[in-house]
Amino acid sequence: MDFKLTEEHIMIRDAARDFAKTELLPGVIERDEKQEFPKELVKKMGDLGFLGMMASPEYGGGGMDTISYILVMEELSKIDASASVMVSVNNSLVCWGLDTYGSEEQKKKYLSKLTTGEKLGAFCLSEPEAGSDATSQRTTAIDKGDHYVLNGTKNWITNGSSADYYLVIAQTDREKKHKGINAFIVEKGVEGFEIGPKEQKMGIRGSDTHSLNFNDVKVPKENRIGEDGFGFKFAMKTLSGGRIGIAAQALGIASGAYELALDYSKQRKAFGTEICNHQAIAFKLADMYTSIEASRHMVMRAAWDKDQGQNYDLTGAMAKVYASRTAMDVTTEAVQVHGGNGYVKEYHVERLMRDAKITQIYEGTSEIQKIVISRGILRD
Ligand code: CAA
Repeated sequence: MDFKLTEEHIMIRDAARDFAKTELLPGVIERDEKQEFPKELVKKMGDLGFLGMMASPEYGGGGMDTISYILVMEELSKIDASASVMVSVNNSLVCWGLDTYGSEEQKKKYLSKLTTGEKLGAFCLSEPEAGSDATSQRTTAIDKGDHYVLNGTKNWITNGSSADYYLVIAQTDREKKHKGINAFIVEKGVEGFEIGPKEQKMGIRGSDTHSLNFNDVKVPKENRIGEDGFGFKFAMKTLSGGRIGIAAQALGIASGAYELALDYSKQRKAFGTEICNHQAIAFKLADMYTSIEASRHMVMRAAWDKDQGQNYDLTGAMAKVYASRTAMDVTTEAVQVHGGNGYVKEYHVERLMRDAKITQIYEGTSEIQKIVISRGILRD
């Protein structure tokens, strides 16, 4: 076992840490309030290579390992989880999916623009009646020979209005159930494709989340990803890796809140001494740090499994359940350590607490992860 990061890992982690402090921290409270995320910041993340980290260099990607990606996700999430969810969706759902399963033409046409940040991607699986129960797709794609005709609604789509390319999962043959599902690349602006209003969210408010409507949208046949009927497996395989990214996001949210609580406890005085000298606070910090380190090991293990070409469905699901619970626990305690100050915006921890909640919901709720984990341990 070797727990040491390589020099390259440290360099990329430090670059992300620096970017988060200098570029993401200023304005993070306002972005949360106004529910916005400026395009220039997305471009800067693209310029730094954060949007296509693991994708093949021949299509503009960084060719990096999953550990590097995890380190970047943690650093960005310490400061702004709205930025890191964009990075996560673009890297592990959109770029990884296209790089691994896309055709040569799809990679040249779409992936090469997504890896550089010239274009942004979205992953469209969830529907009003198909969230956790992802096989119950109501969106249809009817085969018309050289193209498909897409109809339906997708919900809670990250990068909903800011994306340029959308990976859309749809039912092509209802009788075949999940084996009759396909994934398609849909470009923004095509006739019949409408972006619904922005969701008013509790957390990750800078990230734009929308519903999407498809009314007789024509999708060229060459935009189907993989063989006919591969769409559900495509979604599941892509989400397995995505869950490691969200686990890293949860780890970052927890670490960010812990660091703020630690600093505050060394400055704030009560009963004649800094509050960290009171066991009530010191023990909270000890618990927070312990569960963060446990999460870090689980997230790194899942990333390592992926890099070694081993199955990571189980370790990724376990990392997500554990790290997201840690994010909720640690951010709640960080607010508590801050007392009254923790409840106001300028101290940041209340935002981190609101941001933490989504990590137990998206890319598969904690309950869905437990289905994956229990099936895995019962099968083995
Ligand atoms: N890899 C490959 N194949 C997989 C797989 C995986 N990880 N998991 C399942 N499959 C395959 C199965 O082998 C099966 O195929 P076969 O019939 O050929 O064997 C097929 O998929 C169906 O699997 P199940 O019978 O297990 O299906 P199920 O209905 O019981 O559902 C589930 C399984 C794990 C619960 C799945 O529905 C699921 O993951 N649901 C949650 C969906 C989700 O994560 N949504 C998140 C939305 S995206 C998002 O949040 C992005 C964002 O914007 C941030």
